Amino acid sequence: MMNATDIRKSFLNFFKEKQHEFLRSSSVVPHDDPTLLFTNAGMNQFKPIFLGEQQPTHIRVVNTQKCIRVSGKHNDLEEVGFDTFHHTFFEMLGNWSFGDYYKAEAIEWAWELFTDVWGLDKNRLWATVYEDDDEAFELWPKVTDIDPARVLRCGKKDNFWEMGETGPCGPCSEIHYYIGEDPSNQSAEGVNNSDEYWELWNLVFIQNNRLNDGTLEDLPEKHVDTGAGLERIVAVLQGKTSNYDTDLFTSIILKTEELTGKLSKDNPAPFQVIADHIRMLSFSIADGALPSNEGRGYVLRRILRRAARFGRKLDQHEPFLYELVDTVCKIMGKAFPELIDKQKHISKVIKAEEASFNETLDRGIIHYEKLLKNLKGKIISGDEAFKLYDTYGFPLDLTQLMAQEHGLKVDEKGFKKSMEVQRKRAKESGKFKADMKNIKWTTVSEGDDSVFLGYEQVNAEASIKRFSVMDDTILLVLDETPFYAESGGQICDKGTITGDGVDLTVNDVQNENNVFIHYCSGDFEEGKASNSISCKVDMQRRQNIRKNHSATHLMHAALKEVLGEHVNQAGSLVHPDYLRFDLTHHDKITSEEIIQIENLVNRQILENKEVTTSIKEYEDARKEGAMAIFGEKYGDTVRVVTMGNYSKELCGGTHIERTGDIGLFKITEESSLAAGVRRIVAVTGPKAVEYVQMQSAVIEDLQIKLTSSAQDLNKRVDQLLQQKKDLEKSLKQKQKSSSTFDVKKIVTEAKVIDSKKIIVYETDAADMDTLKEFGDQLLNALDSGVGVLGSTSGDKPSIVVVVTKDLNESGISAPDLAKSIGAIMGGGGGGRPHLATAGGKDKSKLKDALKKAELIIKDALID
Ligand code: ALA
Repeated sequence: MMNATDIRKSFLNFFKEKQHEFLRSSSVVPHDDPTLLFTNAGMNQFKPIFLGEQQPTHIRVVNTQKCIRVSGKHNDLEEVGFDTFHHTFFEMLGNWSFGDYYKAEAIEWAWELFTDVWGLDKNRLWATVYEDDDEAFELWPKVTDIDPARVLRCGKKDNFWEMGETGPCGPCSEIHYYIGEDPSNQSAEGVNNSDEYWELWNLVFIQNNRLNDGTLEDLPEKHVDTGAGLERIVAVLQGKTSNYDTDLFTSIILKTEELTGKLSKDNPAPFQVIADHIRMLSFSIADGALPSNEGRGYVLRRILRRAARFGRKLDQHEPFLYELVDTVCKIMGKAFPELIDKQKHISKVIKAEEASFNETLDRGIIHYEKLLKNLKGKIISGDEAFKLYDTYGFPLDLTQLMAQEHGLKVDEKGFKKSMEVQRKRAKESGKFKADMKNIKWTTVSEGDDSVFLGYEQVNAEASIKRFSVMDDTILLVLDETPFYAESGGQICDKGTITGDGVDLTVNDVQNENNVFIHYCSGDFEEGKASNSISCKVDMQRRQNIRKNHSATHLMHAALKEVLGEHVNQAGSLVHPDYLRFDLTHHDKITSEEIIQIENLVNRQILENKEVTTSIKEYEDARKEGAMAIFGEKYGDTVRVVTMGNYSKELCGGTHIERTGDIGLFKITEESSLAAGVRRIVAVTGPKAVEYVQMQSAVIEDLQIKLTSSAQDLNKRVDQLLQQKKDLEKSLKQKQKSSSTFDVKKIVTEAKVIDSKKIIVYETDAADMDTLKEFGDQLLNALDSGVGVLGSTSGDKPSIVVVVTKDLNESGISAPDLAKSIGAIMGGGGGGRPHLATAGGKDKSKLKDALKKAELIIKDALID
């Protein structure tokens, strides 16, 4: 029996033999398509090729793509773990033709692989085609030996494939497999309707593009995009009726049994949910995603919380999901080495996230159970669902899932209303790039464009290939350009483009599928667009960017050396004035570590090593140990930037010639960005000198003000702070001793009712502590009685009420009195039976309160 690794290999080899080039899976976190939360199909990375925006490097391609489907058009989350084949994460095997072969070969080869190579039973296979696709319908019996009765025409829902609301799409032909026990029970009606017929492979004939307004346009060329879920194919080839029984999942389930001491056969769903979700979490974190409250990060959080809640069903109250990461890496690490690279990081992120959800999960479950008890009807209100979300961190789908278990529903609309504010925030965090399709270009001349000259030169003569005028902004595409377009964290160049009738300032440069669009302002005579122009990059600015970019590489290497190999880049911004770097690390970076990092980088600067760049095959570069940034998408040839023997990184950015050009490196900030992610800000060159000068100016200024040497400054400030404290203390004492509070005198002047004394008196106590102390003195001086002392401090009135013990015993309590008197001042009160206090809002009410206090006390005494 073939294992999953063999099956994957055999698919890839089959197509390699048919002249297909193997391409690595793209990141499951699509960093360059903001319309997509996660890569959800093999075709995502090829979208620009289908749309004719990019030329393919190979016209036949084969791959296995990491896919995540949890939301959007292909949302299956509810089913996951409860049936045998829906997953949040799965691998999609695919073969591709970019304008090369079409329907006939796609159908013929799929059949050949299924029946000849893998030996699937032809009497269990069915093919479907789109109802209007006569060509595919006729091809099936022509190019394969399928029984024609097993070729079915189906509607748009099943046989017209679309990636999302918009984008490349086309009719498709699917191959289904009957997994039932008795093959004679098959019928055409079961296909697409019964769970006994599994869709194994989808052959999509991409020929259209769905536009924003819903209409279809023809694509310039016709393409083949096929997708076969590896998990299902493995199940079928291994003779299983559940994906969870294949070697892609069994060791995860076994490990879960081991960790929990429970058996999957007794209650499979929690085991299956966990096995599915841990794969999704491991792969998405390996590709740079992190759990958070917004967008993509929130999907991770939802999935993790769902898994953790199923852990509760297996009596797990401590973090345990993270212990499954090693097993996932063991199964999948060979095919996807990024898992092994990030293994520790993945476990740490999952553990931290589990631990933080555990803090509220049990309380949330108790709250939910109470809610069930009091529930009238069958609907959990939006407010309640929101409370579970907001207070206990329960994502809506988790509440829905729990509700479902009790035959209940959640008022989703109500929940969404309460969520609106958060949703707005999430939307704002996902920026959308200018849609190339909405730009109306005027073509000046045809041919290649956007050759980047900026590695070698900052000035260049060029010509305009296309332009577009949008209000005050002029968009230009040039044949060649020295302007760097924002990419890889490096901010774009600025500068000028001038010529006859052209006098422009370049404000922004963006790379859209390798087309460099210059966003400019200034004078532009459209009639003169065909003249040649001069490009001039702001040299000083570029030079600062180069310093900061090279320093980023040196710092990246130094961080690994000082903090450990687990450190990875989680984000980076190279700006002319500073560099900002986010890294995966769980602890605060200490001052000592910061100094070590600065020293390492500055040593490299002093050694003035050469910075070289070379173009290499991706695999060769990785073998030489070049650092790749996780989540970044690389082509098959990459640019490697090397600094002496200290740093080697894949990078398309602009760099200085020798490390000495950086001049000086200084870290200015270190902070926490999210759980497990720290942020560093640093400066280089003149900015670093400026920073050091600014700091020393502050110190010099303080030295003069405090008449102290730099070394003694700290001591001097400590002394001053101590002096301040001492002075405050003695001031308080002085205020107390100068007070006119004379307890003896007050007691002798007291009113007496039934030999009990009543004292109501306004003091000059400066604060509540002093007032309470006066209260204590008064209580000591009273044999039997009640005293109320008042004072104002600032704008606020306060009182203290004291009651002697004998009166406590006859039912008079200080807090009751304080409450009644406090109410007159608009405040509350409380304390112990013998001494209580009350505050208020308006000091003008004190007099009134004291006046009424006497009556209140009398009432209490008479009662
Ligand atoms: N793009 C097709 C799918 O995702 C193959 O099913």
